[in-house]
Amino acid sequence: MSDKSSNKILLTIENLQGGYGDVQILNGVSIKVPEKSIVTIVGPNGAGKSTILKSIYGIAKVTAGSVTINKDGNIRNVLTSKPHNLSKIGIGYVPQIENIFPALSIEENLEVGYVDYANRKMEDLKSEMFQRYPDLANRAKSRAGTLSGGQRQMLAMARALMSAPDVLLLDEPSAGLAPALVDELFDELVKINQSGVTILMVEQNARRALDISDYGYVLDMGRNRHEGDGRKLADDPEIVGIYLGRK
Ligand SMILES: Nc1ncnc2c1ncn2[C@@H]1O[C@H](COP(=O)(O)OP(=O)(O)OP(=O)(O)O)[C@@H](O)[C@H]1O
Ligand SMILES: [Mg+2]
Repeated sequence: MSDKSSNKILLTIENLQGGYGDVQILNGVSIKVPEKSIVTIVGPNGAGKSTILKSIYGIAKVTAGSVTINKDGNIRNVLTSKPHNLSKIGIGYVPQIENIFPALSIEENLEVGYVDYANRKMEDLKSEMFQRYPDLANRAKSRAGTLSGGQRQMLAMARALMSAPDVLLLDEPSAGLAPALVDELFDELVKINQSGVTILMVEQNARRALDISDYGYVLDMGRNRHEGDGRKLADDPEIVGIYLGRK
C-alpha cells in the first residue's frame, strides 16, 4: 500500500460533538481523511461510529465542531449542506440498513442514485456499474427486493457510486454477509479505492477493515482513543485485546 498520509486532506472532521435530543453521544471526535485513502473507524458497540456518519447527513444533531471537504482547494462546510446536496459536493453514503429501494428494479435503483456531478453521464455510469457487478447486470429489470443479502450490498454500493463521489461513506458494509462474501466485499472496496474513490468506513469487522486501510481510528464513548496505520492497529495486541476482540 502506498503512503497516502502526505496527500491533501479531503474530508476533515474536527471536534465533532452531538447526539440525539439532549443526549450527547459524540464528545469531540476528530478524523482526517487524506485524498485517495481508505480510513476506517472501529470501536465497541455504541461508541458512536454510526452517529458520526449520521451527523454528516443531519440525522443526528451536531452541537459543536465542524466537517469540511476540500474540493480543489475550495473548503466547503459539509454540515450546512442539505443531505440531498451532499452528492453534489462529492460525498456518497451507504447507510447501515435500508440502503436500497426493494420495490424498484435494480436498474431503477442505479438511476435514483445518479447525480449530475463531475460531468458524468448516467448511461456511462450505469454501464460501468453493470460491468463491475455482472450479477446486477443479469437481473437489471428484476425488483431489488429479490436480491440476496450480498447482492443488495453490491447494489447499495453501486447506487452510491452512481453519483461519482470523491469520497464514499460506508456504515458497516460487511454486516450480515456470509464469510466468503466478506472477502469479496473487502476486495471490492480496494478496487473502488484504486479507481480513485476515497473511502471512510465504519466497521465491526475491525481486523479485516483495518487490514485494507491506510489509516484507522479507534473510537470509544464518543471520543478518539487510538489512531494509526491500519495494519499496525490491527496487529497491536493491546488494541486488539481491549477493542477489537479475538481473531
Ligand atoms: N436515534 C437515536 N436516538 C437515541 N439514541 C440513539 C439513536 N441512535 C443511536 N443512539 C444511541 O447512540 C449511541 C451510539 O450509537 P451508534 O449507533 O453511533 O453506535 P455505533 O458505534 O455505530 O454502534 P454499533 O457498533 O452497534 O453499530 C448508542 O448508545 C445508541 O443507543
Ligand atoms: Mg453503527
